[in-house]
Amino acid sequence: MEKMWFLRWVMVFIGFVSVTGLGVNWGTQSTHNLPPEKVVQMLKDNGIQKVKLFDADETTMSALAGSGIEVMVAIPNNGLADMNSYDRAQEWVKKNITRYHFNGGVNIKYVAVGNEPFLKSYNNSFLNITLPALQNIQNALNEAGVGDSIKATVPLNADVYQSPDEKPFPSAGIFRPDISALMTQMVQFLSKNGAPFTVNIYPFLSLYGNDNFPFNYAFFDGVDTPINDNGISYTNVFDANFDTLVSALKAVGYGDLPVLVGEVGWPTDGDKNANAGNALRFYNGLLPRLAANKGTPRRPGFIEVYLFALIDEDAKSIAPGSFERHWGIFTFDGQPKFPMDLSGKGQGKLLIGAQNVKYLAPKWCVFNPDAKDLSKLADNINYACTFGDCTTLGYGSSCNKLDANGNASYAFNMYFQVQNQNPSACNFQGLAKISEQNISTPTCNFPIQMVVASLSSSLMPSFVVFFLLITLSMIMVF
Ligand SMILES: *[C@@H]1O[C@H](CO)[C@@H](O)[C@H](O)[C@H]1NC(C)=O
Ligand SMILES: *[C@@H]1O[C@H](CO)[C@@H](O)[C@H](O)[C@H]1NC(C)=O
Ligand SMILES: *[C@@H]1O[C@H](CO)[C@@H](O)[C@H](O)[C@H]1NC(C)=O
Ligand SMILES: *[C@@H]1O[C@H](CO)[C@@H](O)[C@H](O)[C@H]1NC(C)=O
Ligand SMILES: *[C@@H]1O[C@H](CO)[C@@H](O)[C@H](O)[C@H]1NC(C)=O
Repeated sequence: MEKMWFLRWVMVFIGFVSVTGLGVNWGTQSTHNLPPEKVVQMLKDNGIQKVKLFDADETTMSALAGSGIEVMVAIPNNGLADMNSYDRAQEWVKKNITRYHFNGGVNIKYVAVGNEPFLKSYNNSFLNITLPALQNIQNALNEAGVGDSIKATVPLNADVYQSPDEKPFPSAGIFRPDISALMTQMVQFLSKNGAPFTVNIYPFLSLYGNDNFPFNYAFFDGVDTPINDNGISYTNVFDANFDTLVSALKAVGYGDLPVLVGEVGWPTDGDKNANAGNALRFYNGLLPRLAANKGTPRRPGFIEVYLFALIDEDAKSIAPGSFERHWGIFTFDGQPKFPMDLSGKGQGKLLIGAQNVKYLAPKWCVFNPDAKDLSKLADNINYACTFGDCTTLGYGSSCNKLDANGNASYAFNMYFQVQNQNPSACNFQGLAKISEQNISTPTCNFPIQMVVASLSSSLMPSFVVFFLLITLSMIMVF
């Protein structure tokens, strides 16, 4: 009897641990990244217990060591081909997983094998190499003795499943016909290994580029005409999308496979629907539902979710749209974009920003009104916007209302900041000058970039460091 009690307590406890906590995606495609230790402190300050990465970068992993935060590490798509060799997969696991697997190390829970590899825009480039990579990684984890606690999964875009046009309901969900055999094999493998299916769901993208999409259906506050699916009423696209996947899984015999939402969120700039108001409306709908373990009509209960994203990334590809650089719930420098209660429990606990961020001097690069020859202005703006981030200038974005001079100043400043305010980066054939006056407007911020303590490895190859060290030691000798 006593033993039973104990067992029940353990189960309740384990259950409790696994239902707490929201995750976030931590991407680093920025010209200037916050130091990893500051980001980890932000996670702790905000009570965030799970994080999803896009690689297995050593400095990130070191910062996470000892924090107890649950981590999903990743193999990028361009690493998938390599992982088709079992020896390479074993090497990867040894270097990037088992090395951190000790008391006080990194609490790794998942390995993301690829990132949305079956997106149609990738032209099937990863179609044949994703499943073998997944199998090799999980098998290597199993062989290394960590497969019980660390699961390999593939974060997939929601376009791997659909409902047929003639039955546009969640209950009719199936995997995309061109990859359904592959998806079935993948699902079998995940199930056999006790690993979850990972899907990224973006109500914002349902709205983006489809002006006929019912606006309120992207949010969680109810709609006038819900979708009626055999008596189940759907009032938001998140539930409908998730349940389409649940149906697709059921259709191939795995209706109970755990599903994890690898990415969900709302951008705040770069599109007419991307702003702080809509983002807050979205999160204020999503978070309380997650906190209450509401689930979806076909999967009531807890859903493991990772918000996209923690921080803005100013060097992300904008092929999908200008909004790509504005997914953060925090700005590039770790400051909260809006007052949001992450707990979803209305406790009034708001986002806490990064502390002691070091900025460059309050200096901006602006259009020089004395410039005589304006014939090269467009070329210079183009150049600035190729290397700096001008995505807030577009239609519907925060800086769209600037005048022509303001546009030029904005572009020049973004470039100047990316170049760490190097004076030679504020010339633009005489069209620009450095200014100490902040010309930000109430809606449009002209940012000052952060000081990056040690230049990132891409900017400073190790031979430069080596050379510096040699030089230093010579100076010290003589
Ligand atoms: C470990 O991960 C890093 C970062 O993602 C990668 O560059 C490296 O090649 C991996 N190591 C091995 C041995 O595969
Ligand atoms: C896919 O194909 C299209 C059209 O052929 C091409 O424009 C695009 O660059 C290709 N994308 C990739 C990722 O190869
Ligand atoms: C994938 O493999 C199939 C069967 O071996 C082959 O027909 C197809 O061309 C391959 N696709 C790509 C994109 O390599
Ligand atoms: C400023 O730039 C944006 C984005 O390129 C453009 O839409 C807008 O018309 C420009 N404004 C002026 C006054 O030139
Ligand atoms: C510039 O002004 C904006 C808007 O008033 C403000 O939010 C921002 O903090 C200022 N920047 C600096 C570096 O003082």
